[in-house]
Amino acid sequence: MEGSASDPRRLDEDKAWALLLWLAARARAGDAVVGETAFRVGEDGSVAKAASGDGTVTIRPEQEALLEMHVELAPAVREMLELYLPLVVGRRSTELVVGHLGQSLDGQIATASGASAYVTGPANIRHLHRLRALFDAVLVGANTVDRDDPRLTTRLVPGASPTRVVLDPTRRLDHDRRVFQDGAAKTLVFHCKGVTEARSIGDAELCAVPGRGDGFDLAALVAALHARGLRRLFVEGGGITVSRFLAGGVLDRLHVTVGSVFLGVGRPGVVLPGIDQIRSALRPRTRRFIMGEDVLFDCAFDRRHA
Ligand SMILES: NC(=O)c1ccc[n+]([C@@H]2O[C@H](COP(=O)([O-])OP(=O)(O)OC[C@H]3O[C@@H](n4cnc5c(N)ncnc54)[C@H](OP(=O)(O)O)[C@@H]3O)[C@@H](O)[C@H]2O)c1
Repeated sequence: MEGSASDPRRLDEDKAWALLLWLAARARAGDAVVGETAFRVGEDGSVAKAASGDGTVTIRPEQEALLEMHVELAPAVREMLELYLPLVVGRRSTELVVGHLGQSLDGQIATASGASAYVTGPANIRHLHRLRALFDAVLVGANTVDRDDPRLTTRLVPGASPTRVVLDPTRRLDHDRRVFQDGAAKTLVFHCKGVTEARSIGDAELCAVPGRGDGFDLAALVAALHARGLRRLFVEGGGITVSRFLAGGVLDRLHVTVGSVFLGVGRPGVVLPGIDQIRSALRPRTRRFIMGEDVLFDCAFDRRHA
C-alpha cells in the first residue's frame, strides 16, 4: 500500500497522537474506553468509532496484544501507540498515577550540584511533554522547582498543559519561581497542615494536607487532588518525590529512561529501603522501548493503596 500524508489508510504520528489525546480525554472524563473498539482517525485529527475494517485501528484495552491494525503504520508509530495506550485506556486509566525518571547508567538523575540537562536525549524530553499532555496534573518536588525553575508545560507537543502541582511541605520555595508567576497553567502548591495560613503564592493556590512520618500522607494528597478533579497524575520527579510515591505503593507505573552516561555521585533516582533477600525485591512487569539514544523501561506495579 502506497502511503501519503492524505492517505486515509495511513496512520502517521500526528494522527496517532490525536487518537491518544482523544482517548486520554475520555479517561479524564471518567468514560475510558474499556472494551474492544475500532477507531478511524480523520486527516484533521478527528476521531470516530467505526466498524473494524480498512482504515481502522482496533484497540483491546484488557489484552496483551493491544492493537489490531487495518491501516498502514510505521514501526515507530506502532511503538508510540504501544507505549502510551496503557496510559489512556482500560478501567484503571480514569485514576492513574505514573512516574518518570531520566537517569544515568549509574542511577543518577542529576549531578551533585543538581544539573540534569541532559541526562537523557531530546526524544525523552519530548516524551515528558507528551506525558504532561496525557495527564491531568504534573507533580514535582520542591528541589526540582528550586533547582530547575521548570515551566512544566506541553510546549513541544499538541495538547493542553496539565495543572502543575508542587510538593513543598514546609513552604520554603521563593515566590519568583516560574510556576508561580508565568500563568502558563494552573498551579497548586501542597504543604503540610499548620505550616502557613497563606492562601496563595504568586498565581498559585496553596493547599494543606496532613503529614505522615517525614512526608505527606500520600493517600490524603491523592484524595485532595481527586477532590479537585485531578485523577490522572504524572509524577515527573525528582528522585526523592518518585521514590516516596513508589515506596508508598501509590504508583501504577514508572518510566525509567536510561541515558548512556555515567554521572558519578550525584542525585540518585529511585532509592528504596534495603532488603536482605533477592526474592523480596520489587519486580514490576516491564516493557522496554528504544527512545532515541536512550532505553525506556516501562514498569507496571500493583498499587497497594490510595
Ligand atoms: N532526570 C530527571 O528525570 C529529573 C526529573 C526531575 C528533577 N531532576 C533533578 O533532580 C533534582 C531534584 O530531585 P531531588 O530528588 O533532589 O528532589 P525532588 O524530588 O525534586 O524534591 C524533593 C523534595 O520535595 C518535597 N517532597 C517530595 N515528595 C514529598 C512527600 N511525599 N512528602 C513531603 N515532601 C515531599 C520535599 O521537600 P522538603 O525538602 O522541603 O521536605 C523533598 O525533599 C534536581 O537537580 C533536578 O534537576 C531530574
